Amino acid sequence: MKPRILVTRRIAQPALEYLRSKTRVDLNDLERNLTRAELKRRISHKEGIIAMLSDSLDEEVLSCARNLQVVSLCASGSNNVDMAFARSRRIVITNTPEALKKAVADLAWALILACARRIPEADLETRSGRFKGWAPMYMLGRDVHGKTLGILGMGRIGMEVARRARGFDMRVQYHNRHRVLPRVERSLGARWTSFDHLVKTSDYLVILTPLTSETRHLFRTEQLRSMKRTSFLLNLGRGPVVEESALVMALKHGWIAGAGLDVYEFEPRISRALLKLPNAVLLPHVGSATVESRTRMSMEAARNLVAVLEGRKPMSSVQ
Ligand code: GLV
Ligand code: GLV
Repeated sequence: MKPRILVTRRIAQPALEYLRSKTRVDLNDLERNLTRAELKRRISHKEGIIAMLSDSLDEEVLSCARNLQVVSLCASGSNNVDMAFARSRRIVITNTPEALKKAVADLAWALILACARRIPEADLETRSGRFKGWAPMYMLGRDVHGKTLGILGMGRIGMEVARRARGFDMRVQYHNRHRVLPRVERSLGARWTSFDHLVKTSDYLVILTPLTSETRHLFRTEQLRSMKRTSFLLNLGRGPVVEESALVMALKHGWIAGAGLDVYEFEPRISRALLKLPNAVLLPHVGSATVESRTRMSMEAARNLVAVLEGRKPMSSVQ
């Protein structure tokens, strides 16, 4: 008998076909997430689940699935899963960081450049007919090349962001709980620094750290005030790492020059004040949203799930 699995949102077709050849698939084919009640009901007799970062898999939900062996996240972050409870039930949690790292790094650069050169504002100028011809002091942004790039969270994505900084002749510094190997630092041209120094000296500070009890509200008024007034904060990690109300103050009062955000503290809700600020570039959590990346993520999630159900080692699991 094939194992029964739940797929909480439609993923790429080849991945669904692969899953159907190995398991009995219950697919949520709606254009929305399952409600909590639906999730609890449909998870109940499943051995595996392919889940999205928008599915809240806390103790109450997970305990509805007595036979659950694996949660395969079609994502990198795992803060939506109660890891302690999953461990106590010996449920394996897998994710897809390899499949998405380059797409997210590309988007980090899109945000850096969009902030520095005021791309959304400039586009709106042009479309709205306010462009009256070249002028020497019109729509001035900031240089990217030659500046200092700070990376908070030097994992797979951070390393890809650092690699791309080479072409921009930037000084690259990073902070991470664990320092990466000297050999890797050399090959990336990146140097480790304390969190405080990173915050104080980076011109472009990219947040890629996962959300944990230690990283929640890592950026509050104090940290934002200590950044350079000409600096930009980019968040592609998780929204709650930055206290959104403090960020609004920082952008309003010019403590920093601007922010580029792909994630929000109360996602998908975004504070109204933030929506009104011209020095914020706001994206709807699309870090890994390319056709190629989402196809790879779907396949990797499917393979991880099947590997665990067949007693093999998945390509990537969350500890
Ligand atoms: C995106 O935010 C992810 O964790 O995959
Ligand atoms: C810009 O287009 C320039 O020629 O300076």
